[in-house]
This record gives sequence, C-alpha cells and structure tokens, in this order.
Amino acid sequence: MTPTPDAMSPVSRTALSVARVRAYESGRPDPLFVDPYAAEFAVAAGMPTEVPENTRLSGLAAGLVLHIRLRTRFYDDRLTAAGAEQVVLLAAGLDTRAYRLDWPAGTRLWELDLPPVLAFKEQVLDSAGAMPRCERDVLAGDLLDPGWPRRLVAAGFDPQRPTVWLAEGLVVYLSAEQAAGLLTAVGSLSAPGSRLLMERGRDVSLTPQDPALAHVIALWQGGLGPDTDKWLDAHGWQTRTTSLAEAADTLGRPLPDGVGRTSGFIEAVRTTAR
Ligand SMILES: C[S@@+](CC[C@H](N)C(=O)[O-])C[C@H]1O[C@@H](n2cnc3c(N)ncnc32)[C@H](O)[C@@H]1O
Repeated sequence: MTPTPDAMSPVSRTALSVARVRAYESGRPDPLFVDPYAAEFAVAAGMPTEVPENTRLSGLAAGLVLHIRLRTRFYDDRLTAAGAEQVVLLAAGLDTRAYRLDWPAGTRLWELDLPPVLAFKEQVLDSAGAMPRCERDVLAGDLLDPGWPRRLVAAGFDPQRPTVWLAEGLVVYLSAEQAAGLLTAVGSLSAPGSRLLMERGRDVSLTPQDPALAHVIALWQGGLGPDTDKWLDAHGWQTRTTSLAEAADTLGRPLPDGVGRTSGFIEAVRTTAR
C-alpha cells in the first residue's frame, strides 16, 4: 500500500517539514548529518526535496530551518556520547536515529508518537528496506494520555536503569501545564544519572508575525517557556543550556544577524531518586 500522510493531524504534519529540512541538509556538500530516509518521507508525502532556486525565507523561517539543522546534529552527538542502554524518543516523528547512529551493542530504543505519524513512518521505512542499528520498539499513542508510562514499562522499559530521553521539537506544541505533566512523568521514570535532551520553551507572545508560517505559529503554545531549565532544576534535574548561537559556532554554521538568539538546547541530568 502506498504510504500517505493524510490521516496526520496538523501537529503531526510538522514532522514532515522537519524531514524535509533534514533532506535538504543531507544533500549539501558539507552536511552536519546525513539522514538517508528524510528524502524518502518527503517524496512519499509529495513534498519537494530540493530548495527551489531564488527561495527567499523570512527571518523566522530561516531561523527555524537553521534551528532544525543544528539541533539534529547537536542531539546526534549528545545521544551517542551518553552511551545509555535505554533511549526514549518522545514525539519521535520521522526521526531515523535508530537507523543512522552508531549505537553501543545492547542499546534498546523506544519511539513514541501519535498513531498516524508512526503508521506513515513504518510504511516508508519498510518500503526502503531500512534496518535499525539497535533494538527498536514503536509505541503509538498520545503523550498527554497518562497511561503512556505504564505502556512503556509493559514494552520492556526498566525505570531502574539510566535512560537518555529526547524530546525534540515537542514542548513548543504543549501548554505549560501539559509540558509540566509530561516532564513530571519523565522524571518519575528516570533513575539517577538519566539524561533529558530538549529545547527551551518559547514565549509565544514574542513570535513575530509571518503570514507564510501562520499555520505553524498557530500550533505553538510555548511549553514552559524560556525558564524551562529553571523548572527542571527545581524538579530533580541539573541542567546545562547551550544557546543556538554557541551550537552554531561549534558546528561551524554561525548564525546570521538577528536569527534564533533566544533559542537553546537543554541537557539535564537526573540527580534525585524517583
Ligand atoms: C516538529 S515534530 C518533531 C518530530 C521529531 N521529534 C523530530 O524532531 O524529527 C512534532 C512531533 O510531535 C508529535 N506530537 C505532538 N503532540 C503529541 C502528543 N500529544 N503525543 C504524541 N506525539 C505528539 C507530533 O506527532 C510530531 O511528530
């Protein structure tokens, strides 16, 4: 059957836009990462995989594209360095790290997202003959449903063992209350030494107007806002934030003037027992 993204909700369709950016980056002569399946998702969804010549992006769009490119590589490096036996990708979307990163032997990885996006993903990956490079399980469901931790444990996740969690491109779509509930659940499943990787939330009242992106901006609720790290520090984690500008400099892609100055990536280590 031909995979189709038709059943995806607007928030799940943002995963297609992320895959499209990863396809562009993978096709550059000096890519920060190569995701061999990103273009397959875009093609299956009927999206272009090359940037049309003379494309002019607004400041906000250029910032988002750069943000996705940089955060993908930033998290790739952190996930690989963490060396955890358990990895959980919250709102995995069309993330193919299970297939493209060099995982230590014995790594178990769980991907959680809404059912339509995972159904589309599995069809595309199956058609491409993709083979995971770790033990991979997929859990379709809503992360706002309080039953997901129980389902994760039933799928073999062990809360007594350290885990690395990735919540990439997720919290901005949640309210502060929803983000706090989700992160509280993550904390309750995290043995000391577990790690959590995620972006800072956003003060959505400061988002510039951009008619071309109005459909995306309308989905943003901001999560716990710019003080997400403070919330984590007060709830059993010790955080370190890398600004987008620092990540950009380290990765050799300095930010253009005025782009993404408030964005940052959080690395949190669980310090307390659950
Ligand atoms: C911008 S995409 C990011 C996907 C992926 N983490 C990445 O960076 O490639 C946002 C993802 O969040 C997922 N999502 C949003 N709300 C969710 C919820 N309540 N439960 C599960 N997944 C959710 C969407 O389905 C979508 O795949």
